[in-house]
Amino acid sequence: MLKLGVNIDHVATLREARYRGRETGEPDPIEAARICEAAGAHGITAHLREDRRHIVDRDVWRLRDMVRTRLNLEMANTPAMVEIALRLKPDIVCLVPEHRLEVTTEGGLDVVGGLAALSATREQMNAAGIEVSLFINPDPAQVQAAAQTGSQFVELHTGSYAEHFADPAARSRELERLAHAARLARDLGVRVNAGHGLNYLNLPALHAVPHLVELNIGHSIVSRAVFTGLDQAVRDLLVLMRDYRG
Ligand code: PXP
Repeated sequence: MLKLGVNIDHVATLREARYRGRETGEPDPIEAARICEAAGAHGITAHLREDRRHIVDRDVWRLRDMVRTRLNLEMANTPAMVEIALRLKPDIVCLVPEHRLEVTTEGGLDVVGGLAALSATREQMNAAGIEVSLFINPDPAQVQAAAQTGSQFVELHTGSYAEHFADPAARSRELERLAHAARLARDLGVRVNAGHGLNYLNLPALHAVPHLVELNIGHSIVSRAVFTGLDQAVRDLLVLMRDYRG
């Protein structure tokens, strides 16, 4: 069964737009996580960014207390973040590149260039009982390097697929890149997640990509929730994932 991890960062984005720097405010991302789990989500994802622009430290501790499924902490591979993760003990960390001026995570990690540092963090995390996923573009060299780090998962960046979705030829090309990367990862013993830019329109065609374990989806769910409520938005997405055959 294809699993859904809901990324709740954008709930915190809305809160921070009004209550930045305050101890409380609405909407509460922890309440959002509770609703997502009750609606059937298989995991909760939160990105603690260096600039704390949406999720802040108190959120991840409250999430650690209340999440009953799996908590996936997205983070940059920096000493400060590694230290937080080792204390927090999420079920899994997803290491992502982080650039201060980006609106959202724009590209995948350069695992080839950062092999030693990523391998060291992977070892530290696994020693603490935390699984590791690397967010990468669907590029064979990056998949191979991810396998070399010993990471349990890769998360394939679907941003380019989402960007090119409206153009049938480009869409097929992007799907083929994702499928090729997924097959390679699987052959190398690495499990495969995917995410970024996925929505209610582009998700069904993604079923063509084999071996997917979990999708991490945020913006489209929170956007739909404005109109339907979060519970319904999660349920609607789960319906679209139901027939995935792997
Ligand atoms: N996966 C990763 C690694 C991400 O950085 C993001 C965006 O924060 C997502 C998934 C979710 O992307 P979206 O909000 O576009 O669904």
